[in-house]
Amino acid sequence: MRDRQSIHGSWASRWTFILAATGSSVGLGNIWKFPYIAGENGGGAFVLVYLACIGLVGIPIMMAEVLLGRRGRQSPTNTFRELAVEVGSSRRWAWLGLCGVVAGMMIFGFYSVVSGWVLAYVVYAAEGSFVGAGVDQIGALFAGLLADPQELVIWHTLFVILVAGVVARGVTKGLEVAIRILMPLLFILLLLLLVYAMTSGAFGQAVYFLFHVDFSALSWNAVLVALGHAFFTLSLGMGSMMVYGSYMPKNASIGGTVLIVAALDTLVALAAGLAIFPLVFLNQLDPGAGPGLMFVTLPVAFGHMDGGQIFGFLFFAMVAIAAWSSAISLLEPVVAYVVERFRISRLEACVILGGIVWVLGVGALTSFNIGSQWSLGGMNFFDLLDFLTANVLLPLGGLLVCIFAGWWVGRRITREELSMRSEWVFTAWFFVIRYVAPAAVAVVFIANLWQKVAG
Ligand code: PHE
Repeated sequence: MRDRQSIHGSWASRWTFILAATGSSVGLGNIWKFPYIAGENGGGAFVLVYLACIGLVGIPIMMAEVLLGRRGRQSPTNTFRELAVEVGSSRRWAWLGLCGVVAGMMIFGFYSVVSGWVLAYVVYAAEGSFVGAGVDQIGALFAGLLADPQELVIWHTLFVILVAGVVARGVTKGLEVAIRILMPLLFILLLLLLVYAMTSGAFGQAVYFLFHVDFSALSWNAVLVALGHAFFTLSLGMGSMMVYGSYMPKNASIGGTVLIVAALDTLVALAAGLAIFPLVFLNQLDPGAGPGLMFVTLPVAFGHMDGGQIFGFLFFAMVAIAAWSSAISLLEPVVAYVVERFRISRLEACVILGGIVWVLGVGALTSFNIGSQWSLGGMNFFDLLDFLTANVLLPLGGLLVCIFAGWWVGRRITREELSMRSEWVFTAWFFVIRYVAPAAVAVVFIANLWQKVAG
């Protein structure tokens, strides 16, 4: 078969792919969402289910996405079409890529709002707003931010510009340059914070909370949240990993590379939990505080520790970097598709798509103020975007990727592209992609629907 080339460029090496894919996967999902949903869903048992989802479903699907992307060398939409044609199937598989485009923009809509809060908090921390403040004061600060649509729009706009600016510069000059600077910075900051948390006195309590397994606290809904989060945190089910795979060098081994990315992502989530919960317990705060955990609980802790102003600043700077590198990967598949489809420049695509996600984000941020009365099924627009993407579209996208890779593209091509040293490992992967992963997603979906209908 002729080797395809991507018109968008390619990563300099396998390590650049690892950095970029880790940049994509490590984000608000790890630092903001994981600790708070673990807190809401009771800790240990939830964490165990989440880890099982990463290993059993997430890693195999990430391998599938990367291999499909590298084989097709185009945006996810066109890759699905091209590969479907290659195996003599329907071009309509391209629709799956389009669903990913929609999911990506929806995620961006609420992601950018939270990233905007993070940017605001970088400034608050630097100004010393947390110093000596109690829960009430920080709660009021956060509530004040949420109630002010103008301020939210400013931060959200800044974030969209930061992300679209990088994507507009292209794969080599934009994404690669940004990733090479941001990722080392991110790891240094995280390590610093972790060392602080380990020496802070309540570390043991945090370890107990995250790893003490009590299954009586687990519901089917919690399992769905864990599964959905495995997709969200690994950036699966909407084409991010596919598009990054399409820029991957031909000779790099996919299995080993994906393992490194997933391991780093998991380590960062656990490290974030282990950095956050000691501070929560030390200050007798509530681990189940929800989305506000990072924005209310944590600043209170920062406000009461030595060097808290610096640590608070470093922490939110780190979160901003993580969010930035993830959001780049939310926009890239969409931009790549529009550039291929409409033959416009990257800059034009970024302006148009940046505009669309900006509007979505503005819609999402009104959920906390002027649009708070608007709700559907008990969820405001912001929650709806989060729920529909993480708990519905991404797992569904992942399920269809399994079906496409396992049943349509099939054994010969996936084997060739993965070119694993061990035939046994390949067979195990193929079995998981064909049966185990799709069944797991289906069971969790059905159990949830059942639970909703039944009660
Ligand atoms: N993985 C990112 C995070 O954990 C979010 C993301 C989801 C990015 C889907 C790209 C695609 O924050």
